[in-house]
Amino acid sequence: MIIVKTAEELVKMRASGQMAAQVRDETAARIAPGVTTGELADFAGQRIRELGGESAFLGYHGYPGQICTSVNDEVVHGIPGPQRIELGDVVSIDVGVLYDGYIGDTATTVMVGVTDREVINLVKATEAALYAGIEKAVAGGRLSDVSHAIEQVGLAAGLFVVRDFVGHGVGKTMHEEPQVPNFGKPGRGPRLRAGTTIAIEPMFNIGSAGVDVQPDGWTVLTRSGRPSAHFEHTVAVCDGTAEILTVAR
Ligand code: MF3
Ligand code: CO
Ligand code: CO
Repeated sequence: MIIVKTAEELVKMRASGQMAAQVRDETAARIAPGVTTGELADFAGQRIRELGGESAFLGYHGYPGQICTSVNDEVVHGIPGPQRIELGDVVSIDVGVLYDGYIGDTATTVMVGVTDREVINLVKATEAALYAGIEKAVAGGRLSDVSHAIEQVGLAAGLFVVRDFVGHGVGKTMHEEPQVPNFGKPGRGPRLRAGTTIAIEPMFNIGSAGVDVQPDGWTVLTRSGRPSAHFEHTVAVCDGTAEILTVAR
């Protein structure tokens, strides 16, 4: 069942979304050569707690990190650790905050002194696809219109859309119905209703769409070994235009 949140619940979704956004932005600002992904996660975890929230990821199906950090050919769900960021890296961070019973889920991808035109295209197009999807997340529209809009941006940029991981409803739990694929024909699936909150999260690769989960059980890698990018916002479906909840206010 696709949940429709009440006005009171949306107030809480705004609060957790704002916290997740603030921690995302503060942590992204610390991404630099020489910094380890573990240091980023320690910082993020501390900020989440200072703001009064808790990591929505730590312990989720046993996930061991405060946030996810995914570098270069790591697509999503990378586990923070001793890996040092280097010049030329593409680093995505995914932050989930639980506050007052509701979750905000958001991700961004940062280029660390990247000069490779193909990689810049990757990151720019993945972000543009997120916003193309958000534009379609309106009451009365169809779920797959979001998916299709995202896919079109990826294809137009010559990129490969990850199919094994998808966006999702989000609220009291991190993964609610519906699934929000980043591909598909338009005009399919349920009609979107005002008050539904979804995490829209394109994952695009250079080279090919294939991905594999590492033996650690979490880290998702491109099969090609080429870089990947990931952007995510939690949004509330509204009449007219969606409200992005994971925005620092
Ligand atoms: N935040 C991820 C998503 O966007 C899920 C992370 S699950 C974790 O769906 F366990 F890896 F944290
Ligand atoms: Co996420
Ligand atoms: Co998500």
